[in-house]
Amino acid sequence: MAAVNLRSNALNVLITGANRGIGLSLAKQFHNNGYNVIGTSRKTDAATIADLSAVAVAVVPLDVADEASISALPDRVRAYVPHLDVVVNNAGMYLQDKFGELNATDLLTQFRVNSVAPLLVAQALLPSLRASPNAAKKIVHITSRMGSIADNTSGGSYGYRASKCALNMLNASLAQDVKDVTCIALHPGYIQTRMTSGSGDMDADECARRLFKVIHGATHAQTGQFLHRDGQVLPW
Ligand SMILES: NC(=O)c1ccc[n+]([C@@H]2O[C@H](COP(=O)([O-])OP(=O)(O)OC[C@H]3O[C@@H](n4cnc5c(N)ncnc54)[C@H](OP(=O)(O)O)[C@@H]3O)[C@@H](O)[C@H]2O)c1
Repeated sequence: MAAVNLRSNALNVLITGANRGIGLSLAKQFHNNGYNVIGTSRKTDAATIADLSAVAVAVVPLDVADEASISALPDRVRAYVPHLDVVVNNAGMYLQDKFGELNATDLLTQFRVNSVAPLLVAQALLPSLRASPNAAKKIVHITSRMGSIADNTSGGSYGYRASKCALNMLNASLAQDVKDVTCIALHPGYIQTRMTSGSGDMDADECARRLFKVIHGATHAQTGQFLHRDGQVLPW
C-alpha cells in the first residue's frame, strides 16, 4: 500500500507498530528528517493507517505474534525498497498483572510480543540491512526501564518487566553476533499513549523527537547499549 513518494538516495527505516503511539510519532519524525518510512501495522484498513499513510512510503501488514507474518515481511518490504538502513522494533504490549493472580497465557503472550518477536524481526530483516550500501546500519529495540533489574524498586508488572528485561539481553547478544550492525535498546520514558491510558510525563511526538536524535546519531561504539531517550546509558 503506497502512500507518500519514495525519495531517491534517502535512508530507509522500517518501524513496527507504527499505526499509533510512539511508533506513529517516530514515523513522522523519520519522514520529517528525510527518511523513507516503511511502517508496519497489524491492521491495514484505511482508518487504522490514515495518519501513518501521510508519512510512509508504504504500510505493510505485520502481526509480530505471528511467525508466518514475520517470515513474509522481507518480501513485502522488498516490493517497496531494495534495502533497509534502520529497523525499529517498536511494537509492544503491556498486560496488567499481579502476584497471586498470574497466568501463563498472559506472561507468555507478553514474552512473545515484547521479546521473541523483535529478535525474529531482526533476524528476518538482517539481509535487507546488509544489502544497504550505507555503513551505518542500525537495529533499535524500543525497550523499557521497567526491564531494568537494577531499577526495580516497586515490583509488579511481572510479564512486562521480564519481557523487556529479556529484550535487553537479546539486544546484547545480537550486538555480539552481528558486528556490522549497531544494535541498541532504547527506553522512551513514561509517555502519553494508549499503553499508559494517556498518562505520562511527555507526549509521543516530543518523545519521538528525542528518540530520533539518539537513533540517527548512534555510532557503532554504542552497540549493545541500553539507552535512555536522551542518550544516557541506563543500568541493567
Ligand atoms: N508509553 C510508555 O510509557 C512506554 C514506556 C516504555 C516503553 N514503551 C514501549 O514503547 C513501545 C510503543 O508503545 P506505545 O506506548 O506507543 O504503546 P501503544 O500506543 O499501545 O502502541 C503499541 C503499538 O504496538 C502494536 N502492537 C501490539 N501488539 C502487536 C502485534 N502482535 N503485532 C503488531 N503490532 C502490535 C500496536 O498495534 P495495534 O494498534 O494493532 O494494537 C501499536 O501499534 C512499546 O514497545 C512499549 O513497550 C512505552
